[in-house]
Amino acid sequence: MKFGAFDDQRKEYVINTPQTPYPWINYLGNEQFFGLISNTAGGYTFYRDARLRRLTRYRYNNIPLDTGGRYYYLRDHDNGDFWTPGWMPVKRELDFYECRHGLGYTSITGERGGISVTQLAFIPLGYNGEVHRLTVKNTSNETKKVSLFSFAEFCLWNAQDDMTNFQRNLSTGEVEVLDSVIYHKTEYRERRNHYAFYSVNRDIDGFDTDRESFVGLYNGLHEPQVVVAGRASNSVASGWSPIGSHEVTMKLAPGEEQSMIFVLGYVELPEEEKWEAPSVINKKPALEMIDKFATDADVDRALAELATYWDGLLSKYQIQSGDDKLNRMVNIWNPYQCMVTFNMSRSASYFESGIGRGMGFRDSNQDLLGFVHQIPERARERILDIAATQFEDGSAYHQYQPLTKKGNNEVGSGFNDDPLWLVSGTAAYIKETGDLSILDEQVPFDSNPDNTATLFEHLRRSFYHVVHNLGPHGLPLIGRADWNDCLNLNCFSKEPGESFQTTANIEGRVAESVFIAGLFVFVGPDFAEICRMRGLDADATDALDWIEKMRKTTLEHGFDGDWFLRAYDHYGEKIGSKENAEGQIFIEPQGMCVMAGIGVEEGLAAKALTSVEERLDTKYGIVLQQPPYSKYYLNLGEISSYPPGYKENAGIFCHNNPWIMIAETVLGHGDRAFEVYSKIAPAYLEEISEVHRMEPYVYSQMIAGKDAVRHGEAKNSWLTGTAAWNYVAITQAILGIQADFRGLKVDPCIPSAWDGYEITRVFRGDTYVIRVSNPNHVEKGVARITVDGQPIQGNVIAPVGDGGVHQVEVVLG
Ligand code: BGC
Ligand code: NOJ
Repeated sequence: MKFGAFDDQRKEYVINTPQTPYPWINYLGNEQFFGLISNTAGGYTFYRDARLRRLTRYRYNNIPLDTGGRYYYLRDHDNGDFWTPGWMPVKRELDFYECRHGLGYTSITGERGGISVTQLAFIPLGYNGEVHRLTVKNTSNETKKVSLFSFAEFCLWNAQDDMTNFQRNLSTGEVEVLDSVIYHKTEYRERRNHYAFYSVNRDIDGFDTDRESFVGLYNGLHEPQVVVAGRASNSVASGWSPIGSHEVTMKLAPGEEQSMIFVLGYVELPEEEKWEAPSVINKKPALEMIDKFATDADVDRALAELATYWDGLLSKYQIQSGDDKLNRMVNIWNPYQCMVTFNMSRSASYFESGIGRGMGFRDSNQDLLGFVHQIPERARERILDIAATQFEDGSAYHQYQPLTKKGNNEVGSGFNDDPLWLVSGTAAYIKETGDLSILDEQVPFDSNPDNTATLFEHLRRSFYHVVHNLGPHGLPLIGRADWNDCLNLNCFSKEPGESFQTTANIEGRVAESVFIAGLFVFVGPDFAEICRMRGLDADATDALDWIEKMRKTTLEHGFDGDWFLRAYDHYGEKIGSKENAEGQIFIEPQGMCVMAGIGVEEGLAAKALTSVEERLDTKYGIVLQQPPYSKYYLNLGEISSYPPGYKENAGIFCHNNPWIMIAETVLGHGDRAFEVYSKIAPAYLEEISEVHRMEPYVYSQMIAGKDAVRHGEAKNSWLTGTAAWNYVAITQAILGIQADFRGLKVDPCIPSAWDGYEITRVFRGDTYVIRVSNPNHVEKGVARITVDGQPIQGNVIAPVGDGGVHQVEVVLG
């Protein structure tokens, strides 16, 4: 069942009922100021850090789930009827409802009793505020007198403290109100140099800033007493819970429409400019911001700028194929999600509370694979930030804090796959840009400016960290965990609530990871190539020797007959083997080892992928392992803490399904690669939204596996490495356009039934219009390529470098 439809022309998803199977959200902002907004106008707003600078309050796991947001109550004076255009929280039946989630904006329209209200929300480029344009239209034949009451509940900045420290916080709240602007200035009197404001661009008929006065102590947001009464109480908050609410009353002739612009903004001031007069905040910067959105034309202009900005980002890779679902994933929604994960990492979504994790070392490097072509400059900065949290021995902090950019001591290091992802992220950046100068940047170890080395040296330490940490079989030691955070082979956790990742009761040097072995062979050649490009041939040779050795070791000790093993545990026993009662086969090593080419010549790679298809595949995607763990295993950790079918315990982890897609393309299986792709790509799941439940325009981290009661149901939408890896799988491995050190490589592996497709790719300043045709209906193999009519040798297009548009004809066969 569908709950909306894609509008590809406008790059929007159009939701036609407020009662989606779960709140379907969107993100506003792409620089410093951000908002999360659901299809019923729920969500919140923050400046840079969702934990430390939250402007509006949001209660996670609320009842009803998604209560609290940017609410505009419309009240009809003739009959006292009141409602909200997004349906929530009043839930009065609407004659019409529509939510359009677009790139960086959301527009919600509700109509009832002859009045239509459209609530448009966005964050203009270069602006630290959310702009809301409210358009109220009389669609009836009579004159109407109506009032609009706005509502935003302020958070006292630190979202964690705001939800816990009530003995203090219920006495600190302060506001100022002047003209049509409400200023929220809690803690400004002391150590804060920032305040929030909420304005509207016309005279108001009243206001409220005290929650209890507006809502009523015994009322919910569905029946605020001020709205019920139809008159603002002009309350001024003193402690308790400051809010912002404006009352605007208007008379509308039949057909008449009025619009007004609200701004919810953030201002930061230097210490000496904080005050205008004793206890009176300096309002100048707020008024300047408000002034920028005085008219509809201002809003229209900012929206057009936003659209141009997004067009620019998305234009780097565009496809025209006969498949609308593929087109909309590749052209719009997958790269959009990649940019959102770039901005948010894993901090703020409807599943991440904004007060939890910092930036992940491995996560951020992998996210980069999905956005590097859109914003290479910011990818560069990100790589240098990440590398600065590495230790001298090549290991790394598993997480770092975005505000301080320092490694997180609580989580520490010891996740032995982490270092390799830095090689992968850096290689992706160099392949995209050709910018080798990044390798010469001096980068600190452990954020210490007095202890630095070149980024190249950091990569070398990453590579050799694996070499220096091999276990009894010559495979890489796993440490606290590898990519699978829940396979905790050295933890042995018995205490409820203990972290499986950071509590290592036993620091063994026995448990080994076949996945890291595969990753080493997969990304290692890029390191060797980087050495070679720097003229370090001996280093390149040494690296290649280690890679070859690891390949052999993996075949010798990491293959279990029909598939790759997962690991050896603390006792040196096999994990992911047919000898195990549960957890006999895991997806990760099959994907990564075959991506690395291990066992391809020997025919073992093909065996491994057949085993995946036979044992792990389901109609909703490939599960992480089989059989699931039915009980808690002390020696395995968190993976066995989940009920069968959820998360890492045999859930469909959408992050590693693309590894199988890419692995299938290594073997030339285009039909199968695309089958796996389309099983989990959200646009293909739109029709089963009642099962899938999450947004049909973005990936979720996990879909419940076949052992779960709710097989097919997704969770954790938006912030997941799934976005980047699926983007890599479809754009690079299947459609076959790959940035490479020496140019743009063309190596498609597609369903044999396809006739062809056209891709426009902006690469190192040139635009390539690439027409791929498949006259013989093969799955893989480039017969010939011409660039601007000239045949080329091989399948790598050397950068032309004239900034022009170049026509590329590719014939498969
Ligand atoms: C989740 C993992 C995640 C980890 C992060 C676990 O509870 O299942 O997916 O990587 O937490 O710390
Ligand atoms: C989510 C984490 O963010 C990521 O780092 C990890 O690889 C996966 N879960 C799998 O456990």
